Amino acid sequence: MCGIVGYIGGRQASGILLNSIKRLEYRGYDSAGIATTIGGKILLKKDIGKIDEVDKKVNFSELKGDIGIAHTRWATCGKVTKDNAHPHTGCGGKIAIIHNGIIENHSELHEELAEKGHRFVSETDTEVIVHLIEDNYKGDLKEAVLVALKKLEGSYALGVIHSDHNELVAARNDSPLIIGVGDGENFIASDVPAILDHTKKVIYLDNEEVAVLKKDGLEVFGLDGNKREKEVHEVDWDSTQAEKQGYKHFMLKEIFEQPQAVTEAIKGRVEDSNIMIKDEIGLSEEQIKKINRIIIVACGTSWHAGLVGEFMLEELVDIPVEVEYASEFRYRDPIVDENTLVIAISQSGETADTLAALREAKKKGAKVVSIVNVKGSSIDRESDSVIYTYAGPEIGVASTKAFTSQLVVLYLITVYFGKLKGLLPEEQVRNRVRDLRKLPLQMQSVLEEKDYIKLHAEKFYQRKNALYLGRGINYPIALEGALKLKEISYIHAEGYPAAEMKHGPIALIDKDMPVVFIATKDDRTYKKVLSNIEEVKSRGGEVIAIESKGDDDVKKIVDHNFYIPENSYILTPILAVIPLQLLAYYIADLKGCSVDNPRNLAKAVSVE
Ligand code: F6R
Repeated sequence: MCGIVGYIGGRQASGILLNSIKRLEYRGYDSAGIATTIGGKILLKKDIGKIDEVDKKVNFSELKGDIGIAHTRWATCGKVTKDNAHPHTGCGGKIAIIHNGIIENHSELHEELAEKGHRFVSETDTEVIVHLIEDNYKGDLKEAVLVALKKLEGSYALGVIHSDHNELVAARNDSPLIIGVGDGENFIASDVPAILDHTKKVIYLDNEEVAVLKKDGLEVFGLDGNKREKEVHEVDWDSTQAEKQGYKHFMLKEIFEQPQAVTEAIKGRVEDSNIMIKDEIGLSEEQIKKINRIIIVACGTSWHAGLVGEFMLEELVDIPVEVEYASEFRYRDPIVDENTLVIAISQSGETADTLAALREAKKKGAKVVSIVNVKGSSIDRESDSVIYTYAGPEIGVASTKAFTSQLVVLYLITVYFGKLKGLLPEEQVRNRVRDLRKLPLQMQSVLEEKDYIKLHAEKFYQRKNALYLGRGINYPIALEGALKLKEISYIHAEGYPAAEMKHGPIALIDKDMPVVFIATKDDRTYKKVLSNIEEVKSRGGEVIAIESKGDDDVKKIVDHNFYIPENSYILTPILAVIPLQLLAYYIADLKGCSVDNPRNLAKAVSVE
């Protein structure tokens, strides 16, 4: 994964790079480094640890120069060591590079270059790139990069500097890279938040493109060396959105941003009984009526959103829906034809498995509509059409506001299809829209219970295990609650359909096993869930229930209650997940965990 940034301009590069790379720490945080060039020399500092820790050790501000590159690493090839941290330099110490991606043929290249006398100091795949560039350098940095790239197999987002050149060369293939266009200065970065303090003008590099950035201009080329014209986009995020704004963690801020994020996802898309997503979805009425199968592909939390979407779509649109782990989809020769609609869901738009699934679906003739948060991302650009979630930058590694916004978009698609197919009469659409509009205020009221949820976190943060159970449309919420807890607090947690408990997990239940039930009143399996709760209680389990306000039946039989307001059955998950996000957050914080950057995880999983 890793985050990379580069700067060329009139200011000292190291300070700018340090701030920018911190904004990308969600992409990786096991080591960090910066290289600059000044006076015909490359200056470089790097070490293991999070960026602030590394900065304390090495003091990046000592690096002078107004051209530089920086990297925050999530180790893929080679252990977490200082030598393996980026930037990497060639034998002559005149070229330095940063890389995000994986070079698949690095062993062969290593052998070839070593035979030619290149000395390697790291275990990384990246180091072959810098030696390859060095090997092909004949006075023109861009030309050397172009020759080197043609020999690489795999993915890369690259930043390259040379001590004799006043330029920064960048390239991308299957790893994200944007160019920030400034006034008398230019930037490269893995993601937009890194450069928002300096510019909102962005160029999205495509695969197999190389850019040469100078202080006062830039040019983009194909691998054939031919110049390409690129459009400059204006991004609508601002830098304050990428700051904590007084919250202790990004995750907490993002949980609290959910009413606003959901409002943004609805804005301009509903009016009375109209769902206005026709242009975004890019499908004609005729095409929609012909859809006989929907396949949703996604990973992690986005996959859980897909599972909720399956309930929504099958219930209201009467089309069979399958939800696939994107990582499995393309390895099992899926049956897809032109009447199959594939919906890819991804916050980052860069998840390698989801991107690969999307490509496979397109190859087989399916239309791919994606639900994406990050504009300009690979999934955004490769889909037939995209419906944005408009949740704003999500920086905490654990996804929260992107999830609830994805559910809103899935709901919009569902009601839109239902209306077009004549399954939802006008009156029902109007009611569905009314239900949707209730959400932001209802979400706000759940968030106001934060102190009460925190009190419960204090009771449970020292436990070692937890079980999350739900049925029907709330079963994916049980999965999501368990995922949130385990990924940020490292407490082992399992999500199960409540009735499945009897087929195995019930053996785990004793007084030390907290069991979280989603037991909302409007759920059609409500009565069955009550029985499942009784089964846990009679085996000594401690039950925490997410329940509908005013429901005394659940209250009577459980140990702890979190209430959510009532809404229609298919919108309940959007409310039910909030107490679970907060519970996981407060537990992780009480345990002193690194909430925004949990160990081993990265925000955008751009490797398969
Ligand atoms: C969990 C989480 C991950 C992501 C998954 C897919 O909190 O954030 O499970 O949901 O890596 O990421 P996107 O949605 O960016 O494709």
